[in-house]
Amino acid sequence: MPSDLLAERYGPLFYGEFSGARRLYACSLELVDELCDEERFVKNPTKPLARVRPLVGDGLFSAFHGEPNWQKARDVLLPGFGFTGVRGYHAAMLDINDRLVRKWDATVGKSPVDVSMDLQKLAMDTVGFALMGTQFDSFSYDGFAPIPESFLAASAALPPEGDPRVFERERARLYAFIDDLIEQHQNGVTASDDLVTLMLAPGPEGQPALDLQNTRNQILTILIAGQLTTSELMPMALFNLLRNPVVLHRIQAEVDAAFGTDDDRIPAFEEIGKLTYLRQAIDESLRLSPPAASFDRMALADTVIGGKYLIKEGEAVTVLVGALHRQPQWGDNVELFDPDRFAPEQVANRPTGLFKPFGTGIRSCIGRQFALHEAALALARVVHRYRFLDSGNYVLKMGDKTKRQPFGFQIELVRRTPAEREHNSRALPAQSALPSASADRPMAVAAGTAVAVLHGSNLGTCRALAKVFAEELTDLGCTTTVGPLDSFAATSPTAAVTVIVASSYNGQPTDDAREFLSWITESKGLDGSPLYAVFGVGDRNWVDTYQAVPRRVDERLSELGGQRLLPLAEADTSSDLAGAVEEFTAALTTALAERFGDASAPAPRETAEPLYSVRRVVGPVTSAIDARFDVVPMMVLENHELVSADNPLGQAKRHIRISLPEGIDYHTGDHLTVLADNPAELVQLVLDHFHIDPDLRLSINPRRKSSRLIALDREVTNRELLTHFVELRKPATPNQLRQLAASNPCPPERERLQRLADGTEASVLSPLECLVEFPACNITGEQAIELLEPMTPRHYSIASSSRLYPRTVGLVVSVLAEPARSGYGLFRGVASNYLANVQPGQHIRARVDQARQAFRSGADPSKNVILVSAGTGVAPFCGFLGDRFAAKQAGEPFAPALCFFGVRHPDVDYIFREQFEAADSEGIVSMRPAFSRAPQEGIRYVQDRIAASADEIWELIGDPDNDTHIYVCGDGAKMAPAVRQVFIDIYRSRTGASEQQSRDWLINEVTSDRYVEDVWAQ
Ligand SMILES: Cc1cc2nc3c(=O)[nH]c(=O)nc-3n(C[C@H](O)[C@H](O)[C@H](O)COP(=O)(O)OP(=O)(O)OC[C@H]3O[C@@H](n4cnc5c(N)ncnc54)[C@H](O)[C@@H]3O)c2cc1C
Ligand code: HEM
Ligand SMILES: Cc1cc2nc3c(=O)[nH]c(=O)nc-3n(C[C@H](O)[C@H](O)[C@H](O)COP(=O)(O)O)c2cc1C
Repeated sequence: MPSDLLAERYGPLFYGEFSGARRLYACSLELVDELCDEERFVKNPTKPLARVRPLVGDGLFSAFHGEPNWQKARDVLLPGFGFTGVRGYHAAMLDINDRLVRKWDATVGKSPVDVSMDLQKLAMDTVGFALMGTQFDSFSYDGFAPIPESFLAASAALPPEGDPRVFERERARLYAFIDDLIEQHQNGVTASDDLVTLMLAPGPEGQPALDLQNTRNQILTILIAGQLTTSELMPMALFNLLRNPVVLHRIQAEVDAAFGTDDDRIPAFEEIGKLTYLRQAIDESLRLSPPAASFDRMALADTVIGGKYLIKEGEAVTVLVGALHRQPQWGDNVELFDPDRFAPEQVANRPTGLFKPFGTGIRSCIGRQFALHEAALALARVVHRYRFLDSGNYVLKMGDKTKRQPFGFQIELVRRTPAEREHNSRALPAQSALPSASADRPMAVAAGTAVAVLHGSNLGTCRALAKVFAEELTDLGCTTTVGPLDSFAATSPTAAVTVIVASSYNGQPTDDAREFLSWITESKGLDGSPLYAVFGVGDRNWVDTYQAVPRRVDERLSELGGQRLLPLAEADTSSDLAGAVEEFTAALTTALAERFGDASAPAPRETAEPLYSVRRVVGPVTSAIDARFDVVPMMVLENHELVSADNPLGQAKRHIRISLPEGIDYHTGDHLTVLADNPAELVQLVLDHFHIDPDLRLSINPRRKSSRLIALDREVTNRELLTHFVELRKPATPNQLRQLAASNPCPPERERLQRLADGTEASVLSPLECLVEFPACNITGEQAIELLEPMTPRHYSIASSSRLYPRTVGLVVSVLAEPARSGYGLFRGVASNYLANVQPGQHIRARVDQARQAFRSGADPSKNVILVSAGTGVAPFCGFLGDRFAAKQAGEPFAPALCFFGVRHPDVDYIFREQFEAADSEGIVSMRPAFSRAPQEGIRYVQDRIAASADEIWELIGDPDNDTHIYVCGDGAKMAPAVRQVFIDIYRSRTGASEQQSRDWLINEVTSDRYVEDVWAQ
C-alpha cells in the first residue's frame, strides 16, 4: 500500500515494518514541524539509508550526524550548487537535452518512446556531464551505458542481501572510473568548472580539502542522489500533465510565449526561471509524488512530541513526505493535481513546513536548484516540441511496496507546428497565472497606501536599495517611509505593507537590525496579519550563512502571523544584484497594484499636472550620484607610498590621510566609502577607440524606472559621463552578453557571444571590450549607455585611531594594477588607482560607514584581543593599537594585544613595521608576523603562526575569565577560512572535543561576537 494511504489509516504517528526494519513514522504538520526543529532533532540515517554506506561511505547523503567529512564536503560542494554554479551547468544540460530530442524526433510516427527510461538516461548523463565533465553517452545504448549500469548493479547488490562478488566487482569498476576522472581533471584534460574541480582544488594547506576516498564517496553519492530523484520527478510530472490536459495546455502557452514559434529554439538560462506556471506544476508533482518518500530525524535528547509522545535520545522518527503533502491544511481534494496550489498567494497563506520534498534543515537537499532547473528545462523543451498521445492508456505502477512510480511509461509523439505555437501563445494572457502577463492590471494604487521600507544595512547597500524601492512605490501612488529595522522593533507594522531589505554579516544581523531580530525572535505574535515582503541581500561567498538574516526575518514574520505579499527574494551581490532588484521591483509593484490598485483611477503621472515644472540645478556635475550614495567632498591631507609599485612581490600600497568635514565623525574600526572616478587615460582610450566626441553634450532621460539608472540631474558631456557615472571595466554579465548577441548580425560572432553568455565561466570581457572583440555588434548610443553599469562606491577600513586623530582618517590602499584577465592591457582597479593618485589638497567624495558594533568594540583598550590580518587587512588594527596607545598616555588601563600579521617579505611589504615594533616594545602589542615569501621555521602564513603560538592563544581563549575576543580582517577568500580552521584545531587539541563540537564552539564564538570578521573578497 502506498505510504500516504498507510499514514491515512494509521497516522499521525505509527510503527511500521518494511524491508525488515521496524521504524516510527510521522506525517502530521504539527509533528513534522517539531521533528524539523534542529535544536531537538538531526538527520541520522536509519537502516535503509545506512545500508548504502558500503558503496558511498561518508558521502554527504549517508554521513552520520557529526561525521567530520560532512561539513568539509558540504563547504566544498555548496558553491557548485548555488545560482552561479547552476547557471554554469545550463550549457551542459542543453547538450544532453539535445541528445534526448534527437532520439525522440527519430521515433515520431514510428514507435512510442519509453519516457521513464529516456528521462532516467537524461538525468544520468546530465549529472555526469554537467557536474563531472564526463559523457556517459547513454542515448547510444539500448539499455544503460556501462558506468550507470555499474552503479545500478552495485546498488542492487548491496550487502548483506546482495551478491558480494557482484558488489565488489562493480564497486571496483566505479572506483577505477572515478580515479580516471580525477586524473583527467588533474591533467587538465577535462577543463571545466565542475564539482570534481571543486573537490580537487587545493585548500590553504596546498592539499585538496577532501581525501581520495571521500572524493570517491561524494562522486558516487552525487551520481546516485542526483539522478534517482530527478529521473522519477520528470516522467511523473509528464504523466501528470498528460492526465490534466488543461494544465498541459496552459504550460504549452507559457512556454510558447517564452520560446516563440521556432522549432529549435535554444532557451537561455534566465528564460527557464521565468516559466512560473511550469514551476508550479513541477512543485505540484513533487507534492503528490515526492521522489524522496521519507527522511529520518533523530532525537538529540529525550523529548516529547505532540505533547504526549516520548522520543528517546538517539531514537529516529521517519517523516513520510507523501503523507505530509496530503494533510488537511492542503485543503480539499488533495489527490487532485492542481498547480494553482503553488500560486504565490496560496504559498504565502500556507505554513511552509507543509511542503518538504527536499528534506529539512542543514541536511536538506544540496542539489535542489540543479534538479529544478534540469526538470524545468527538459519539460519545457519537450512540451514546446511535441504533442503526446497516450494510446496505451498508461497506469502508474507500484515501485517498491510503498510508492507509485512511472515504470514503463510509454507514449507516442507528434511534432507541434509553428502555427500551433503561434496560436497557443496568443491564448496566454487570458489563462496565465503570471502576474506580469495580466494585461489589465491596475497601474496605480489607491492614493496614500502606506508602505514602510525598512533596511538592515551596515555598509549601505540595503540602505540605498530601500531608497530605490521607496521611490518606485511613491511613483505608484504609495505613501512611503524609509528607516532602519530597529526603529520598528517592538511595534507591529501599521503600514499596509512592510518591505524589508536586509543583509547578514557572518550570519548575524547588521547593527541597525539587532533589536528588530531579538524582538521578532521573542515576540509571541503580531497585531493582525500584516502584509510584508523581504528582499535579502547576501553573498554566496559566505556559504554557511548565505542570506541567514533575511531568511530568518521572512520565516519568523510568517510564524508570527504576518502574510507574505511576495515570496522571499534573494539577491547575491557577487552575481546579478541589479537583475534581482529589477525582478523584485516588478513583482512588488505588480502585487501592490493587484491588491491595492484602483483600475479606474488614473495612474499618478496621468493626473492633471501644471504645464511646467522648474528645477534648479546646483552643485557639481556629480550632485545626483553623490546624493544617491550620500558622499560629500573630503580633503586629502597626505598620500605617500608604503610599498613600491616596482616591488616584484605584489601590489603597491599607499597610506592616505583625509580630513573629515564638519559634522562627520568616526569611531576606530569604521569604514570610509569612496566614490571614485575612472582614470583619465582609460576614458581617453574609450573616446578614441569608439570615435566619440568628448565634448558632445548628452541629455539622458530615463524611459522607465529602474535601479540600474545612472543618477544624473542634468546634461553631461561624453567625457563627464565616462569619467564619473559608469563602470568601464566591470565584466559583462550574461544578460549584457545576450543583449550584445541579439544586436550582432554576424552569425559566428553572435554564436560566440551567445556561447559566452551561456558558458560555465564568468566573462572576463567588459561590455566595451566585447564591442572591440565583436565589431559587428550594432548598438545605438542608448543601448551602449544601458550596457554600462552605474559607478558604485568602494569601502576602505579606516586605519587610524579616533582617539588620537578625531578629525582625520587614515587609509591603507592596495593598488590593483595587473595584466587584465581579458588580455586588454593592464587592469587598474577604479577606486584604488584613483586614491593612489589623489594629491594633498584635492577633494575626494566619500562617506563614513559605521562598522558593526561588535567590530568597533575591539578597539576598547581594556579588552583582551587577538588580532589577525594579512596585507591591507591590518588597517583597522592600526586604529585599535592607536586607541591603546592613547589609553596608555592617559594612564588608563589597557591590555596588550596579540597581533598576527601576514605579509610577503619583511623587506618589502611589512608596512608600519617601525611603528609596530615600537608599540611592541612599549607593551601595547605583541607582534607575530608571518612571511609567506621568506618563511621562518616552516611558518609561511598567518594561520601557521597562529598554530605555532597555540599555547599562548589557549592561555587567552581557554580561560573564560579572560573574555578574549578575536578579530580577523582582510582576505575573505583564503585567509579567513584558514584562520577559522586553525582556531578550531586549537580548540579541538586542547579540549579533546570532536571536530563537530569544535566547529560548534567556533560558531558559538561567532554568534556571541567573540570571534568577529571584517573581511572582503579580493
Ligand atoms: C569592508 C571592506 C573593507 C575594505 N578595506 C580595504 C582596505 O582597507 N584597503 C584596501 O586596499 N581595500 C579594502 N577593501 C577592498 C576595496 O573596497 C576594493 O574592493 C579594492 O580597493 C578594489 O577596488 P578597485 O575599485 O580598485 O577595483 P575594481 O575596479 O572594483 O576592480 C576589482 C574587481 O576586478 C576584478 N579583477 C581583479 N584583478 C583583475 C584582473 N587582472 N583582470 C580583470 N579583473 C580583475 C576583481 O575580481 C574585482 O571584482 C575593503 C572592502 C570591504 C568590503
Ligand atoms: C527532484 C529531485 C530531488 C529530490 C526530490 C531530492 C530530495 C532530497 C532529500 C529529501 C534530501 C534529504 C535526505 C535526508 O534528509 O535524508 C536530499 C539530500 C541530498 N540531495 Fe537531493 N533531491 C533531488 C535532487 C538532487 C540532485 C540533482 C542532487 C545532486 C546532483 C542531489 C544531491 C543530494 C545530496 C548530496 C544530499 C545530501 C545532502 C546532505 O546531507 O548534506 N539531490 N535530497
Ligand atoms: C564581513 C562580512 C561578512 C558577511 N557575511 C555574510 C553572510 O554571513 N551571509 C551573506 O549572505 N552575506 C554576507 N556578507 C555579504 C553582505 O551581505 C553583502 O556585502 C551586502 O551587500 C551587505 O549589505 P550592506 O552594504 O547593506 O551592509 C558579508 C559581508 C562582509 C563584508
